[in-house]
Amino acid sequence: MDNNQFADKDILITREVVEQVVEELQHRIEQKEIVLDIQLAHTSVKNINRDLLFQLFYNIINNAIKFNKHGGSIQITDQGASNKSYTVFIEDSGAGIDEQQLGEIFYRFKKVATRAEGYGLGLAIVDSIARHEGLLLNVASEKGKGTRFGVTFGVNHL
Ligand SMILES: Nc1ncnc2c1ncn2[C@@H]1O[C@H](COP(=O)(O)OP(=O)(O)OP(=O)(O)O)[C@@H](O)[C@H]1O
Ligand SMILES: [Mg+2]
Repeated sequence: MDNNQFADKDILITREVVEQVVEELQHRIEQKEIVLDIQLAHTSVKNINRDLLFQLFYNIINNAIKFNKHGGSIQITDQGASNKSYTVFIEDSGAGIDEQQLGEIFYRFKKVATRAEGYGLGLAIVDSIARHEGLLLNVASEKGKGTRFGVTFGVNHL
């Protein structure tokens, strides 16, 4: 049977979705004493499924906590609110990803995974959601310094 639960398209304020995700992950942020800084405009986007966008941000922010160091930082910022595209950046001070791994993080399912390490599914889900909703993903990383994910909304969302 066809499941249509993700066909719903909402108008929402990205900042509110990010804040809901952060609320759900708050205990882990506190456990790890991570300094979180959110600098987002009250930009609204349309033609987007709220539950899927929540899952997308959840997986990226969850990684930013998980692969961060104790006492590290996460910055969530945006760019282009009044433009033809709008991007939300999630930047962490964590382990970083080396160049050869960077090209495959959205596609790779780990062959061997322990529960503690995770199953390597998060970013594959993020990629599927981005395709489904017409969002652009971007990632820049430096080994040992940190990682920055960008999620870009296009004209159809603004
Ligand atoms: N913010 C990040 N900093 C450093 N490495 C990252 C970050 N995000 C992802 N990675 C790397 O990319 C891999 C794939 O991420 P993904 O979220 O798909 O899997 P996971 O977090 O290991 O498992 P799961 O999300 O299923 O619990 C991770 O195992 C990690 O090596
Ligand atoms: Mg993950």
